[in-house]
Amino acid sequence: MVGAQKKMNKQILLSGIQPSGALHIGNYLGAIKQWVDLQSEYRVFAMIADLHAITVPQEPEALRNKTLEVAALLIACGIDHKKSVIFIQSHVPAHAELAWVLNTITPLGELERMTQFKEKKDTSGEMAGLLNYPVLMAADILLYQTESVPVGEDQQQHLELTRSLANKFNNRFGDTFRIPKAHIQKDTARLMGLDDPTKKMSKSTPSANNYIGLLDTPDDIRRKIKIAITDSGKEIAYDEENKPAIANLLRIFSAFSGSAVADVETKYRGTSYAEFKQDLAELLVAKLEPIQVRYHERAGDQDALLKILKDGAEQARAIARETLYNAQNKMGFLTSLK
Ligand code: TYM
Repeated sequence: MVGAQKKMNKQILLSGIQPSGALHIGNYLGAIKQWVDLQSEYRVFAMIADLHAITVPQEPEALRNKTLEVAALLIACGIDHKKSVIFIQSHVPAHAELAWVLNTITPLGELERMTQFKEKKDTSGEMAGLLNYPVLMAADILLYQTESVPVGEDQQQHLELTRSLANKFNNRFGDTFRIPKAHIQKDTARLMGLDDPTKKMSKSTPSANNYIGLLDTPDDIRRKIKIAITDSGKEIAYDEENKPAIANLLRIFSAFSGSAVADVETKYRGTSYAEFKQDLAELLVAKLEPIQVRYHERAGDQDALLKILKDGAEQARAIARETLYNAQNKMGFLTSLK
């Protein structure tokens, strides 16, 4: 009873991840690991953003499989479904409903300026869904009155829009939404691609050598780290500007080993790139192994996984509906008749 009481009193913290492409160590360090660590303080709502995934073309079968894969991976990474809520975005209709409402107060120009839209529109086509993507994300966040949203740096612009829409709505219709802020972990907010340290590590990249996937085999991990781009010179030194590739690998080493970047730098000063990379590969193999073991256990028990997602959706629906009705009521909808 005391445990249950404590759980109810905790503030909600929501964040999301798209079920598209291979989940990689950037997703893990930039986002999922924060969610895991914040579970003691908050009631974490970990959302699988399938409505966002379809803003670029998806194969139905692949989307279904990825959605379940992400759910199993979230649990394998340490999201505890007894303390936290894991749910699929499309199972909670309030997300699409609030997004519609927010669309009516979102200036088109702000959406056209979004980096993600500009980056994706040429390859995915200028679809209205892609343009409105950040509005749906604002709805996700505002429905749960979450104060802080743990994300990687690429989501910062979407959080700014969320804040501006919440303020606009509150000013026009009265206090309705809590104004959220991004929770960004400095050193791991933007892991860069292993094959190109000028671009972020990304699951939608054409080359799998760009990232270390959470489900990569030990041999793949060793191979990808071995061929990862390095900088000119021989020195292992943390220099973002002149040695961006080594700086990225140092940050990854630091995050997985728990040692400060400066300590890792000191440890490997005077050694070779090859030696440092070999140790990094073994560190990654060792740290990802328990996640992979737990993943295979979870993925092998589909019934249990589906039950967790069903329970999660029920908990999310109850909270989301309340915020939605409150917002609609303030706008003049006859919500009491619903
Ligand atoms: P998505 O699926 O692209 O990524 C999930 C999370 O991983 C972070 N991330 C990274 N962090 C560090 N380095 C990287 N290279 C890297 N790549 C990705 C992302 O910043 C993100 O936190 N729009 C979101 C999903 C979403 C969401 C939400 C997030 C939908 N609704 C509401 C928060 C709140 C997205 O596409 O994440």
